[in-house]
Amino acid sequence: MWLSLYEPLLLFLVSLEEKITTKEDVSAVDQSNTSFPEWACQRKAKLEHLNIKLTSAIEVLQEHAELRDGNQDYSRALAFRRASSVLKALQFPVQSVEQLRGLKDIGEHVKTVIADFLDHGSSSEVEEILKSHWFRKMKLFTSVFGVGPSTAKAWIDHGWENLEDAQKNGCPSNDWRIAWGLAFWKDLNTPVCRTEALTFSQIVQQEAESILPGVITTLVGGFRRGKQEGHDVDILLSHPKEGAETDLLPKLIAALGKRGLMLIGHKEKSSFRSDVLYQDFKISTRGQLDHFEKWLGICKFPKSFSKHENSTSKCEENQNNSHSKTNSDSNLKAYASLDDSLSELYEPKAKKAKPSETTSLDPNLISAAPRDWLARRVDLIIAPYSQYYYALVGWTGSKHFNRDARLYAQKKLGLKLTSHGLYDLQKRESLSAQSEEEVFAHLNLQYVDPSDRNC
Ligand code: CTP
Ligand code: MN
Ligand code: MN
Repeated sequence: MWLSLYEPLLLFLVSLEEKITTKEDVSAVDQSNTSFPEWACQRKAKLEHLNIKLTSAIEVLQEHAELRDGNQDYSRALAFRRASSVLKALQFPVQSVEQLRGLKDIGEHVKTVIADFLDHGSSSEVEEILKSHWFRKMKLFTSVFGVGPSTAKAWIDHGWENLEDAQKNGCPSNDWRIAWGLAFWKDLNTPVCRTEALTFSQIVQQEAESILPGVITTLVGGFRRGKQEGHDVDILLSHPKEGAETDLLPKLIAALGKRGLMLIGHKEKSSFRSDVLYQDFKISTRGQLDHFEKWLGICKFPKSFSKHENSTSKCEENQNNSHSKTNSDSNLKAYASLDDSLSELYEPKAKKAKPSETTSLDPNLISAAPRDWLARRVDLIIAPYSQYYYALVGWTGSKHFNRDARLYAQKKLGLKLTSHGLYDLQKRESLSAQSEEEVFAHLNLQYVDPSDRNC
C-alpha cells in the first residue's frame, strides 16, 4: 500500500535520474571526443592553448626520451609528442583524466602523469628528470650548435661537467659547428626575437631582389607560425621562373658578407634528383632531411636589428645582457682583421683560402672581442618554384606537423609527402601545387593556417 502510493514518485525519480545520467553521458561523449580529429594535421593547434602546464610536463618526458636515444626511445618520445599535440588542440582545459576518454593518442603512462599533475600540481616523474644530473648535462651539451645526443653522451663519458671542460680540452671535434657553437654559446642561446628576424629577412629580400629581380623571400620556421622568439632564422627563397634561382645562393652569401653580416657557415649543394623521391617510401624516423641547396650557419646581427622605433623592447633588453665585453689588445687585433679573413670562408670562389688560414680563425677571440653584434643561427634555403609550396609547408613546420602530415599521406592516401612534392608512387607522378591551399587540397585536408600548425 505504502509502496504503491509512492510508486509514481519513485518512477519519476528513476526516470529523472536516467535523464541526468544520459545528459552527463552526452557531455562526456562530447568531451571524450568522438569527433576529435585523429590526425594532428587535421586539427588546429595555436601557440597559446588551454593545457600549457600539462604539455610542458609531457614535453620534458619527450625530451628525456629523445636524449636517451636508445632503441625504444624514439617511439617513446613520439608517443609523448602525440599526446602533447592532442592536448594542444583541445578546446577545454583538462581537469580530470576522465575528460580524455576516447582520445587515441593519450596512453596509460601519459594519463598517470596527467593525474599526478592534476592531483599535486606537479608530476613526480617529471620532477625527478628535471633534477637528474644526467638530464641537466645532456640539456646543456645539446644546447651547443652541432652537438646531438651522441656527442653529448661522449662528453659525459669523458667526465666533462660543463662547457668550460669541453673548451679546455680543445675543440672536441673537427666539426666547425661545435667550435663556433661553443665560442658563441651565450649569443646562440639568447632567443632571436621577431623584430630581429624581420629586419634580417628584409635585408635578405633587398639583396636577393637586386641579384635576382622577382625573387620570393619568405621568413619560415617558427616565426611564420607566429612565434615571438626562436632559436634561429629560417628563410626560404625561390623565383617564379623555374631555374632562375640557380646561381642565387653564392651571390646572396657574398652580398650579405659585404654588408658584414656573415660570420661562418656551410653551403650544401642541391642533392635533388627526381628518382630519389620515387625510391624510399620509408618515412625517415629522425631528421627531416631534404635535398635543397642551402646555407646553414651563423650570422652577425647588429644589435640595432632588435630596436623598436620608440621604445626599448624586451628583445633589446635580452640582448644587452647577452654577452660581456672584453677589451684585450689581441682581441682587438683579431676583430680588426675579421671581415677580410672571413670572406675567404663564405665566398665560395675564394677556394684559395688555405686550410691553415681557415683554422687560424679563432672563434673564441672573435667572440671575446668588443662587438656590437650578436651571433645568430640562420638557415637559407633555395627551392625551385615547382617545389616551392611544398618547401613552404615543410619549412614552416612544426616538426610534428610535418611528421604527422607525412604519415597521414602515406597511411590514408598512399602518397609520399616531402618538402619537394607529393608523389603517387603507383602512378609514378607528382602532384603539382600553385599555392599552400592546393597542397592541402591534394592531401584531402582542410587548409590549416600556419598559426594553427603549432602541434
Ligand atoms: N626542417 C626541415 N629540414 C631540415 C630542418 C628543418 O624540413 N633539415 C623544418 C622543420 O621541420 C621545421 C622547420 O623546418 O618545421 C624549421 O626548423 P627549425 O628552425 O629547426 O624549427 P622552428 O620550428 O623554426 O623552431 P625555432 O623557433 O626554435 O627555430
Ligand atoms: Mn627555426
Ligand atoms: Mn632552422
